[in-house]
Amino acid sequence: MSLNWIAPAQRIQKLPPYVFARLDELKAKAREQGLDLIDLGMGNPDGATPQPVVEAAIEALQNQRNHGYPPFEGTANFRRAITNWYYRRYDVKLDPDSEALPLLGSKEGLAHLAIAYINPGDLVLVPTPAYPAHFRGPVIAGGQVHNLVLKPDNGWLIDLASIPDEVAKKAKILYFNYPSNPTAATAPREFFEEIVAFARKYEILLVHDLCYAELAFDGYQPTSLLEIPGAKDISVEFHTMSKTYNMAGWRVGFVVGNRHIIQGLRTLKTNLDYGIFAALQTAAETALQLPDSYLQEVQQRYRTRRDFLIKGLADLGWQIPKTKATMYIWVPCPAKIGSTDFALDVLQQTGVVVTPGNAFGVGGEGYVRISLIAECERLGEALHRFKQAGIHY
Ligand SMILES: Cc1ncc(COP(=O)(O)O)c(C=O)c1O
Repeated sequence: MSLNWIAPAQRIQKLPPYVFARLDELKAKAREQGLDLIDLGMGNPDGATPQPVVEAAIEALQNQRNHGYPPFEGTANFRRAITNWYYRRYDVKLDPDSEALPLLGSKEGLAHLAIAYINPGDLVLVPTPAYPAHFRGPVIAGGQVHNLVLKPDNGWLIDLASIPDEVAKKAKILYFNYPSNPTAATAPREFFEEIVAFARKYEILLVHDLCYAELAFDGYQPTSLLEIPGAKDISVEFHTMSKTYNMAGWRVGFVVGNRHIIQGLRTLKTNLDYGIFAALQTAAETALQLPDSYLQEVQQRYRTRRDFLIKGLADLGWQIPKTKATMYIWVPCPAKIGSTDFALDVLQQTGVVVTPGNAFGVGGEGYVRISLIAECERLGEALHRFKQAGIHY
């Protein structure tokens, strides 16, 4: 007997196509053939979780009190570590009981926020290109996504002035993310001031994703939306432990900001999950308390790789401006080749995996994203293969 007649819910059918399918197929085939793949596709940090964090987890694992269901709202200690970190880092005061909520990774929270706040037909403003959960979450919730197309001439910043008044009036939520995945663009503080003024004028909930808060270089310090006066009335901000602390597999993130919005998300999650294993929350507390020397080390690692790759790409004809943050380089495809075809070409000819830009929405067409998740030696090997295969701009 087959269950083929049971169709997935429309909310699943409405999701944009999954552009990784063909890439995944080719990757699997290459692995089967024993080819030496250089996978620069995902934003999956290659470093180890810092040893003090691992040790804190082991110790917490030995404590039987951590073995039961964790508190729905996260442990009080982790919430306090989050708000202390915010105060230290951004000089923003938050209440650990009502303005901070641990998440099973920020992706979970970003998508569930849409389910908690979007009714079918609600208008949601989402930049394109963007991290997929920013538009897939609203689609799953039945929202109507209005694309804010980002352009290189505007530094990949949202052009707020180009949003028609009637669209802004209808919009309920605006998702955004600087430093940005996938473009690596950063936004000046004035942009944050403008977007807060815009959201207050039109009564829109701002959802800012600050996952790359710490991966910044050359003295650049990313802005937290919550630093802007009046922002907390109309916004929430998401963070992850995955990138800075090499904890992608641990599934720990958090959201901070407006208490009313956080309460809605907490109510939804209380019905869906039990939160993060308490031992991992203890370890995450340790991560947030690591000395600045740890951050400097991480930043140095990505900065060195950034410089190496940008220089190597320049030798192949790509003039990529120096990025100020993130672990990505956003690379235009050679003329007349689409993102998917270029990524497939690169994979087939060189065994190097890059992500087609259209995985991040229509606004990413014509680009591929390269993640700085390998040492310079491997990046050098990738560049060498590009050269041999005649791949250039
Ligand atoms: C912008 C952005 N937000 C969220 C996430 C998801 O992070 P997490 O591991 O916390 O779910 C990523 C991961 O790549 C990301 O790039």
